[in-house]
Amino acid sequence: MTMQKDIYILAIETSCDETAASVVKNGRYVLSNVISSQINLHKKYGGVVPEIASRNHIKKINIVINEAIEKSGINLKDINAIGVTYGPGLVGALLVGLSTAKALAFATKKPLIGVHHIEGHISANYIENKDFAPPFICLIVSGGHTHLVYVKDYGDYEILGKTRDDAAGEAYDKIARAIGLGYPGGPKIDKLAKEGDPHSIEFPRAYMEDGSLDFSFSGLKSAVLNYLNKCKMTGECVRKENVAASFQQAIIDVLVDKTIQAAKLKNINKIALAGGVSANTGLRQAMNKVCERENIFLQYPSPILCTDNAAMIGSAAYFEYIKGIRHGLDLNAIPNLKLGESV
Ligand code: KG4
Ligand code: ZN
Repeated sequence: MTMQKDIYILAIETSCDETAASVVKNGRYVLSNVISSQINLHKKYGGVVPEIASRNHIKKINIVINEAIEKSGINLKDINAIGVTYGPGLVGALLVGLSTAKALAFATKKPLIGVHHIEGHISANYIENKDFAPPFICLIVSGGHTHLVYVKDYGDYEILGKTRDDAAGEAYDKIARAIGLGYPGGPKIDKLAKEGDPHSIEFPRAYMEDGSLDFSFSGLKSAVLNYLNKCKMTGECVRKENVAASFQQAIIDVLVDKTIQAAKLKNINKIALAGGVSANTGLRQAMNKVCERENIFLQYPSPILCTDNAAMIGSAAYFEYIKGIRHGLDLNAIPNLKLGESV
Protein backbone atom coordinates (compact mmCIF):
# COMPACT_ATOMS: atom_id res chain seq x y z
CA MET A 1 0.00 0.00 0.00
CA THR A 2 1.40 3.38 -0.93
CA MET A 3 1.15 6.13 1.64
CA GLN A 4 -0.60 9.19 0.29
CA LYS A 5 1.49 12.33 0.56
CA ASP A 6 0.11 15.11 2.75
CA ILE A 7 -1.06 18.23 0.92
CA TYR A 8 -0.52 21.62 2.52
CA ILE A 9 -2.43 24.68 1.33
CA LEU A 10 -1.61 28.24 2.30
CA ALA A 11 -4.93 30.10 2.10
CA ILE A 12 -5.69 33.81 1.98
CA GLU A 13 -9.04 35.58 2.48
CA THR A 14 -9.66 39.34 2.17
CA SER A 15 -13.13 39.61 0.60
CA CYS A 16 -14.64 41.88 3.25
CA ASP A 17 -13.30 43.22 6.54
CA GLU A 18 -11.21 40.31 7.80
CA THR A 19 -7.58 39.92 6.73
CA ALA A 20 -7.01 36.19 7.11
CA ALA A 21 -4.44 33.52 6.33
CA SER A 22 -4.25 29.86 7.23
CA VAL A 23 -2.32 26.67 6.57
CA VAL A 24 -4.53 23.61 6.12
CA LYS A 25 -3.41 19.99 5.74
CA ASN A 26 -5.41 17.62 3.52
CA GLY A 27 -8.39 19.97 3.50
CA ARG A 28 -9.43 19.09 7.04
CA TYR A 29 -6.58 19.79 9.48
CA VAL A 30 -6.04 23.44 10.40
CA LEU A 31 -2.39 24.07 11.32
CA SER A 32 -2.89 27.81 11.74
CA ASN A 33 -5.83 30.19 11.35
CA VAL A 34 -4.91 33.87 11.70
CA ILE A 35 -7.68 36.47 11.48
CA SER A 36 -7.13 40.20 11.78
CA SER A 37 -10.54 41.81 12.11
CA GLN A 38 -11.19 45.42 11.13
CA ILE A 39 -14.46 45.65 13.06
CA ASN A 40 -13.18 48.45 15.27
CA LEU A 41 -12.27 50.57 12.24
CA HIS A 42 -15.70 50.24 10.62
CA LYS A 43 -17.83 50.37 13.76
CA LYS A 44 -18.23 54.13 13.82
CA TYR A 45 -19.64 54.12 10.28
CA GLY A 46 -22.21 51.42 11.08
CA GLY A 47 -20.92 49.11 8.38
CA VAL A 48 -17.93 48.20 6.25
CA VAL A 49 -16.38 51.13 4.33
CA PRO A 50 -14.78 49.52 1.22
CA GLU A 51 -11.87 51.95 0.86
CA ILE A 52 -10.92 51.62 4.53
CA ALA A 53 -11.13 47.84 4.19
CA SER A 54 -8.73 47.74 1.21
CA ARG A 55 -6.21 50.05 2.85
CA ASN A 56 -6.11 47.99 6.00
CA HIS A 57 -5.82 44.71 4.15
CA ILE A 58 -2.67 46.17 2.56
CA LYS A 59 -1.31 47.11 5.98
CA LYS A 60 -1.99 43.69 7.50
CA ILE A 61 -1.71 41.10 4.76
CA ASN A 62 2.02 40.32 4.99
CA ILE A 63 1.99 40.23 8.78
CA VAL A 64 -1.01 37.89 8.81
CA ILE A 65 0.50 35.54 6.19
CA ASN A 66 3.84 35.40 8.00
CA GLU A 67 2.11 34.63 11.27
CA ALA A 68 0.03 31.87 9.64
CA ILE A 69 3.14 30.22 8.20
CA GLU A 70 5.08 30.58 11.44
CA LYS A 71 2.30 29.13 13.60
CA SER A 72 1.73 26.20 11.24
CA GLY A 73 5.26 24.90 11.70
CA ILE A 74 5.43 24.32 7.93
CA ASN A 75 8.03 25.96 5.71
CA LEU A 76 6.78 27.98 2.77
CA LYS A 77 8.79 25.69 0.50
CA ASP A 78 6.76 22.69 1.71
CA ILE A 79 3.42 24.28 0.83
CA ASN A 80 1.80 22.56 -2.17
CA ALA A 81 -0.43 25.38 -3.39
CA ILE A 82 -1.75 28.82 -2.58
CA GLY A 83 -5.51 29.18 -2.26
CA VAL A 84 -7.20 32.56 -2.34
CA THR A 85 -10.71 34.03 -2.44
CA TYR A 86 -11.25 35.77 -5.78
CA GLY A 87 -14.96 36.53 -5.40
CA PRO A 88 -17.59 37.47 -4.50
CA GLY A 89 -16.79 40.42 -2.27
CA LEU A 90 -15.54 43.99 -2.30
CA VAL A 91 -13.35 44.35 -5.36
CA GLY A 92 -10.62 46.46 -3.73
CA ALA A 93 -10.50 44.14 -0.74
CA LEU A 94 -10.39 40.99 -2.89
CA LEU A 95 -7.57 42.43 -4.99
CA VAL A 96 -5.27 42.77 -1.99
CA GLY A 97 -5.47 39.07 -1.12
CA LEU A 98 -5.45 37.96 -4.74
CA SER A 99 -2.44 40.10 -5.75
CA THR A 100 -0.51 38.88 -2.73
CA ALA A 101 -1.39 35.26 -3.51
CA LYS A 102 -0.32 35.72 -7.13
CA ALA A 103 2.98 37.33 -6.11
CA LEU A 104 3.64 34.45 -3.70
CA ALA A 105 2.71 31.84 -6.29
CA PHE A 106 5.00 33.48 -8.84
CA ALA A 107 7.94 33.87 -6.45
CA THR A 108 7.70 30.34 -5.04
CA LYS A 109 6.61 28.67 -8.32
CA LYS A 110 3.64 27.11 -6.51
CA PRO A 111 0.24 26.62 -8.13
CA LEU A 112 -2.50 29.18 -7.53
CA ILE A 113 -6.07 28.12 -6.77
CA GLY A 114 -8.86 30.71 -6.80
CA VAL A 115 -11.70 29.93 -4.40
CA HIS A 116 -15.32 31.07 -4.39
CA HIS A 117 -16.04 32.69 -1.02
CA ILE A 118 -19.31 30.77 -0.52
CA GLU A 119 -17.60 27.51 -1.41
CA GLY A 120 -15.22 28.39 1.40
CA HIS A 121 -18.09 28.87 3.86
CA ILE A 122 -19.57 25.50 2.85
CA SER A 123 -16.17 23.80 3.23
CA ALA A 124 -15.82 25.04 6.82
CA ASN A 125 -18.01 22.03 7.61
CA TYR A 126 -15.30 19.58 6.51
CA ILE A 127 -12.84 20.77 9.14
CA GLU A 128 -14.16 19.69 12.51
CA ASN A 129 -15.95 16.52 11.46
CA LYS A 130 -13.39 14.52 9.44
CA ASP A 131 -16.09 12.16 8.14
CA PHE A 132 -18.48 14.84 6.93
CA ALA A 133 -18.83 14.60 3.16
CA PRO A 134 -21.30 15.33 0.35
CA PRO A 135 -24.06 14.87 -0.56
CA PHE A 136 -25.83 17.28 1.80
CA ILE A 137 -28.03 20.36 1.85
CA CYS A 138 -26.25 23.53 2.96
CA LEU A 139 -27.85 26.70 4.23
CA ILE A 140 -25.39 29.57 3.78
CA VAL A 141 -26.37 32.66 5.73
CA SER A 142 -23.92 35.53 5.97
CA GLY A 143 -23.69 39.30 5.75
CA GLY A 144 -23.74 39.19 1.98
CA HIS A 145 -25.46 35.90 1.12
CA THR A 146 -28.45 33.71 1.82
CA HIS A 147 -28.33 30.52 -0.25
CA LEU A 148 -29.82 27.06 -0.04
CA VAL A 149 -27.49 24.75 -1.89
CA TYR A 150 -27.56 21.06 -2.73
CA VAL A 151 -23.92 19.99 -2.40
CA LYS A 152 -23.83 16.93 -4.67
CA ASP A 153 -20.09 16.42 -4.39
CA TYR A 154 -17.00 18.48 -3.49
CA GLY A 155 -17.22 21.55 -5.70
CA ASP A 156 -20.47 20.40 -7.32
CA TYR A 157 -23.39 22.62 -6.35
CA GLU A 158 -27.00 23.12 -7.28
CA ILE A 159 -28.52 26.34 -5.99
CA LEU A 160 -32.04 25.59 -4.76
CA GLY A 161 -32.89 29.03 -3.46
CA LYS A 162 -31.45 32.40 -2.58
CA THR A 163 -32.50 35.75 -1.24
CA ARG A 164 -34.34 38.09 -3.58
CA ASP A 165 -33.32 41.17 -1.61
CA ASP A 166 -31.42 41.45 1.68
CA ALA A 167 -29.12 38.74 3.02
CA ALA A 168 -30.04 37.37 6.46
CA GLY A 169 -26.97 38.96 8.07
CA GLU A 170 -27.73 42.26 6.39
CA ALA A 171 -31.20 42.22 7.98
CA TYR A 172 -29.62 41.48 11.38
CA ASP A 173 -27.16 44.34 10.96
CA LYS A 174 -29.83 46.84 9.85
CA ILE A 175 -32.23 46.00 12.67
CA ALA A 176 -29.42 46.09 15.22
CA ARG A 177 -28.56 49.57 13.99
CA ALA A 178 -32.21 50.67 14.23
CA ILE A 179 -32.45 49.60 17.86
CA GLY A 180 -29.09 51.16 18.65
CA LEU A 181 -26.95 48.06 19.11
CA GLY A 182 -24.15 48.96 16.70
CA TYR A 183 -22.14 47.00 14.12
CA PRO A 184 -21.95 44.07 13.60
CA GLY A 185 -25.47 43.49 14.81
CA GLY A 186 -25.82 39.72 14.49
CA PRO A 187 -24.03 38.68 17.68
CA LYS A 188 -25.66 41.55 19.63
CA ILE A 189 -29.19 40.63 18.57
CA ASP A 190 -28.38 36.99 19.28
CA LYS A 191 -27.46 37.90 22.87
CA LEU A 192 -30.31 40.33 23.48
CA ALA A 193 -32.90 37.94 21.99
CA LYS A 194 -32.22 35.51 24.83
CA GLU A 195 -33.76 38.00 27.25
CA GLY A 196 -36.86 38.66 25.15
CA ASP A 197 -40.10 36.91 24.25
CA PRO A 198 -39.93 35.68 20.63
CA HIS A 199 -43.73 35.65 20.35
CA SER A 200 -44.38 39.10 21.82
CA ILE A 201 -44.50 40.91 18.46
CA GLU A 202 -45.97 39.34 15.33
CA PHE A 203 -43.56 40.12 12.48
CA PRO A 204 -44.21 38.75 8.96
CA ARG A 205 -42.60 35.61 7.56
CA ALA A 206 -42.06 35.68 3.80
CA TYR A 207 -42.46 32.18 2.36
CA MET A 208 -42.77 33.33 -1.29
CA GLU A 209 -44.90 31.44 -3.81
CA ASP A 210 -45.65 27.75 -3.29
CA GLY A 211 -42.64 25.50 -3.66
CA SER A 212 -40.13 28.32 -3.93
CA LEU A 213 -36.99 27.99 -1.84
CA ASP A 214 -36.08 31.65 -2.29
CA PHE A 215 -35.94 34.08 0.60
CA SER A 216 -36.90 37.70 1.15
CA PHE A 217 -36.10 39.69 4.26
CA SER A 218 -36.89 43.24 3.16
CA GLY A 219 -40.54 42.97 4.23
CA LEU A 220 -39.53 41.82 7.69
CA LYS A 221 -36.99 44.63 7.92
CA SER A 222 -39.65 47.23 6.97
CA ALA A 223 -42.10 45.73 9.46
CA VAL A 224 -39.59 46.07 12.29
CA LEU A 225 -38.72 49.63 11.27
CA ASN A 226 -42.44 50.51 11.05
CA TYR A 227 -43.02 49.01 14.48
CA LEU A 228 -40.18 51.10 15.93
CA ASN A 229 -41.55 54.25 14.26
CA LYS A 230 -45.06 53.59 15.52
CA CYS A 231 -43.76 53.19 19.08
CA LYS A 232 -41.84 56.43 18.75
CA MET A 233 -44.92 58.34 17.53
CA THR A 234 -47.26 56.95 20.15
CA GLY A 235 -44.65 57.40 22.87
CA GLU A 236 -44.76 53.68 23.58
CA CYS A 237 -41.65 52.33 25.25
CA VAL A 238 -39.76 49.88 23.02
CA ARG A 239 -38.73 46.65 24.66
CA LYS A 240 -35.57 46.06 22.65
CA GLU A 241 -35.17 42.49 23.84
CA ASN A 242 -38.67 41.65 22.58
CA VAL A 243 -37.99 43.28 19.22
CA ALA A 244 -34.71 41.35 18.93
CA ALA A 245 -36.30 38.04 19.94
CA SER A 246 -39.38 38.43 17.70
CA PHE A 247 -37.31 39.57 14.71
CA GLN A 248 -34.89 36.68 15.17
CA GLN A 249 -37.74 34.17 15.47
CA ALA A 250 -39.26 35.42 12.20
CA ILE A 251 -35.94 34.88 10.40
CA ILE A 252 -35.28 31.49 12.00
CA ASP A 253 -38.76 30.12 11.22
CA VAL A 254 -38.29 30.72 7.50
CA LEU A 255 -34.67 29.53 7.38
CA VAL A 256 -35.47 26.29 9.19
CA ASP A 257 -38.65 25.56 7.19
CA LYS A 258 -37.03 26.07 3.81
CA THR A 259 -33.91 24.09 4.68
CA ILE A 260 -35.99 21.10 5.78
CA GLN A 261 -38.13 21.48 2.66
CA ALA A 262 -34.94 21.38 0.55
CA ALA A 263 -33.73 18.21 2.30
CA LYS A 264 -37.09 16.53 1.65
CA LEU A 265 -37.12 17.68 -1.97
CA LYS A 266 -33.73 16.11 -2.61
CA ASN A 267 -34.34 13.17 -0.29
CA ILE A 268 -31.18 13.96 1.66
CA ASN A 269 -30.87 13.39 5.41
CA LYS A 270 -27.79 15.53 5.98
CA ILE A 271 -27.85 19.30 6.52
CA ALA A 272 -25.01 21.75 7.08
CA LEU A 273 -25.07 25.39 8.10
CA ALA A 274 -22.50 27.95 7.01
CA GLY A 275 -21.70 31.67 7.10
CA GLY A 276 -21.65 34.28 9.85
CA VAL A 277 -25.34 33.97 10.76
CA SER A 278 -24.93 30.22 11.29
CA ALA A 279 -23.11 31.17 14.50
CA ASN A 280 -26.52 32.28 15.79
CA THR A 281 -27.49 30.29 18.87
CA GLY A 282 -31.22 30.58 18.19
CA LEU A 283 -30.83 29.23 14.65
CA ARG A 284 -28.65 26.35 15.80
CA GLN A 285 -31.11 25.40 18.54
CA ALA A 286 -34.13 25.54 16.26
CA MET A 287 -32.33 23.58 13.56
CA ASN A 288 -31.14 20.96 16.07
CA LYS A 289 -34.67 20.46 17.32
CA VAL A 290 -36.25 20.02 13.91
CA CYS A 291 -33.44 17.82 12.60
CA GLU A 292 -33.75 15.55 15.59
CA ARG A 293 -37.48 15.23 14.99
CA GLU A 294 -36.98 14.58 11.27
CA ASN A 295 -34.05 12.19 11.78
CA ILE A 296 -31.69 14.43 9.85
CA PHE A 297 -27.97 14.69 10.63
CA LEU A 298 -26.98 18.31 11.30
CA GLN A 299 -23.47 19.74 10.98
CA TYR A 300 -22.27 23.28 11.66
CA PRO A 301 -18.84 24.82 12.26
CA SER A 302 -17.61 26.41 15.50
CA PRO A 303 -18.43 30.15 15.50
CA ILE A 304 -14.85 31.12 14.56
CA LEU A 305 -15.18 29.04 11.37
CA CYS A 306 -18.67 30.43 10.60
CA THR A 307 -17.57 34.04 10.15
CA ASP A 308 -14.94 34.92 7.55
CA ASN A 309 -11.64 33.07 7.91
CA ALA A 310 -8.98 31.55 5.65
CA ALA A 311 -9.10 27.98 7.00
CA MET A 312 -12.36 27.43 5.12
CA ILE A 313 -10.68 28.75 1.95
CA GLY A 314 -7.81 26.31 2.52
CA SER A 315 -10.26 23.44 2.81
CA ALA A 316 -12.11 24.40 -0.38
CA ALA A 317 -8.80 24.92 -2.22
CA TYR A 318 -7.63 21.43 -1.23
CA PHE A 319 -10.64 19.74 -2.84
CA GLU A 320 -10.02 21.81 -6.00
CA TYR A 321 -6.33 20.94 -5.87
CA ILE A 322 -6.89 17.18 -5.81
CA LYS A 323 -9.23 17.55 -8.79
CA GLY A 324 -6.38 19.22 -10.67
CA ILE A 325 -7.85 22.71 -10.74
CA ARG A 326 -5.19 25.44 -11.14
CA HIS A 327 -5.50 29.12 -11.99
CA GLY A 328 -3.20 31.32 -14.04
CA LEU A 329 -1.57 34.48 -12.78
CA ASP A 330 -4.09 36.40 -14.90
CA LEU A 331 -6.89 35.41 -12.47
CA ASN A 332 -8.91 38.51 -11.68
CA ALA A 333 -11.12 39.45 -8.74
CA ILE A 334 -14.81 38.99 -9.57
CA PRO A 335 -16.95 40.98 -7.11
CA ASN A 336 -20.24 39.32 -8.17
CA LEU A 337 -18.93 35.81 -8.86
CA LYS A 338 -21.80 33.29 -8.89
CA LEU A 339 -21.55 29.92 -7.18
CA GLY A 340 -21.05 27.18 -9.76
CA GLU A 341 -19.77 29.65 -12.32
CA SER A 342 -16.17 29.68 -11.18
CA VAL A 343 -13.59 30.42 -13.88
O1 KG4 B 1 -19.74 35.19 6.89
P1 KG4 B 1 -19.51 36.57 7.40
O2 KG4 B 1 -18.40 36.80 8.35
O3 KG4 B 1 -19.28 37.57 6.22
C1 KG4 B 1 -19.87 37.52 4.96
O4 KG4 B 1 -19.42 36.70 4.12
O5 KG4 B 1 -20.84 38.26 4.77
O6 KG4 B 1 -20.90 37.04 8.02
C2 KG4 B 1 -21.04 38.24 8.71
C3 KG4 B 1 -22.48 38.38 9.15
C4 KG4 B 1 -22.80 39.74 9.74
O7 KG4 B 1 -23.99 40.22 9.14
C5 KG4 B 1 -23.01 39.43 11.23
O8 KG4 B 1 -23.93 40.31 11.84
C6 KG4 B 1 -23.56 38.02 11.16
O9 KG4 B 1 -22.79 37.40 10.15
N1 KG4 B 1 -23.39 37.29 12.42
C7 KG4 B 1 -24.44 36.83 13.16
C8 KG4 B 1 -23.88 36.22 14.31
N2 KG4 B 1 -22.51 36.31 14.23
C9 KG4 B 1 -22.24 36.96 13.06
N3 KG4 B 1 -25.76 36.90 12.96
C10 KG4 B 1 -26.57 36.37 13.88
N4 KG4 B 1 -26.11 35.79 15.02
C11 KG4 B 1 -24.79 35.68 15.28
N5 KG4 B 1 -24.36 35.10 16.41
ZN1 ZN C 1 -18.30 35.35 4.37
